[in-house]
Amino acid sequence: MGTRFKNKEDFFRSLREDMVRYQLEARGIKDTAVLNAMRTVPRHIFLPEELALDAYADYPLPLFAGQTISQPYIVAYMTEKLTLSPDDRVLEIGTGSGYQTAILAELSGEVFSVERIPELSAWAKERLDYLGYKNVHLLVRGSPLGWEEFAPYDKIIVTAAAEQLPEELLHQLRSNGKMIVPIGTFSQYLHLVKRINGKSCTRRLIPVAFVPLIVD
Ligand SMILES: C[S@@+](CC[C@H](N)C(=O)[O-])C[C@H]1O[C@@H](n2cnc3c(N)ncnc32)[C@H](O)[C@@H]1O
Repeated sequence: MGTRFKNKEDFFRSLREDMVRYQLEARGIKDTAVLNAMRTVPRHIFLPEELALDAYADYPLPLFAGQTISQPYIVAYMTEKLTLSPDDRVLEIGTGSGYQTAILAELSGEVFSVERIPELSAWAKERLDYLGYKNVHLLVRGSPLGWEEFAPYDKIIVTAAAEQLPEELLHQLRSNGKMIVPIGTFSQYLHLVKRINGKSCTRRLIPVAFVPLIVD
């Protein structure tokens, strides 16, 4: 690593700067708050130690229990599409490593994140606590989908692919709220859903490859 970096955290910070410049800004992510959150959150902490050096690379990575952490660009893209405000209440389906949760916590008021695999939720909790996020609430649950108790939410992000638009989540979205969700089986696309006057308006965005949403 040489003398350029005083310590490990300086080294990872420089990898984050490169990630923001060459993967996010170069591909059109413009929201300054999203770019700053991606600069701030130490993604390597959310990965198994042997993958820490790959943390800022331009691809998704394996976690455990057959699950993955999304490519940084997809995290930034989905977050930007939600147009988060500091007082938003956000529901996340698929806590996974907790990395996307931390990005949401940087940009919104409160984050309610649900994960069906207990070991992953515990992994995420340990890291989110270590980093000092006080506005994150975690729940282990696969079914029923979501976290009805604290609904309605201003924004909902689903980080596993649904076969079709999950109606039960639409009911947890407040009027004028937004939800981003990957939909599809063999071929998946991100969809942005807006709730306007009780009706939903859906726009198909980019192709993606997520692990499946499993509702037991
Ligand atoms: C692509 S991973 C999430 C990655 C995560 N956003 C991150 O930053 O590490 C998708 C996650 O969704 C979870 N999942 C699948 N079905 C679910 C459900 N019905 N409710 C909650 N979580 C679910 C999986 O267990 C997996 O951890």
